[in-house]
Amino acid sequence: MAEDAAWKFSKEKGVDMVAINPGMVIGPLLQPTLNTSAAAVLSLIKGLQTFPNATFGWVNVKDVANAHIQAFEIPSASGRYCLVERVAHYSEVVKCADDKPYVPTCHVSKEKARS
Ligand SMILES: *[C@@H]1O[C@H](CO)[C@@H](O)[C@H](O)[C@H]1NC(C)=O
Ligand SMILES: *[C@@H]1O[C@H](CO)[C@@H](O)[C@H](O)[C@H]1NC(C)=O
Repeated sequence: MAEDAAWKFSKEKGVDMVAINPGMVIGPLLQPTLNTSAAAVLSLIKGLQTFPNATFGWVNVKDVANAHIQAFEIPSASGRYCLVERVAHYSEVVKCADDKPYVPTCHVSKEKARS
């Protein structure tokens, strides 16, 4: 909604506008407080017990900063730029403690105990 309003404003006022739309932004924080992206990453670091069945587009904050500079400095920049380095499911982001193959699960017979 904010972007729509900005496009409308830029057309009405004849302002040259470029929109940068990043996915989940990760990297060093400038501000002392957490925002949406940083809070999502912190919950991963703190060791989520479960994770949502969801995918997110991820992008490095330094690439987002560079895109803003280029959008400002390069006259041919126009329209909307969606910035995503990689789309990953939560299960790919939350890594196992090591890179070795998962230990296989097994079945334990309950027959004897039930009897
Ligand atoms: C979160 O903070 C980072 C680092 O300051 C910033 O690049 C990013 O745009 C912020 N994300 C949101 C959704 O405000
Ligand atoms: C995860 O989401 C996909 C796509 O919506 C769906 O097909 C799948 O059944 C979901 N998996 C679980 C475990 O809910």
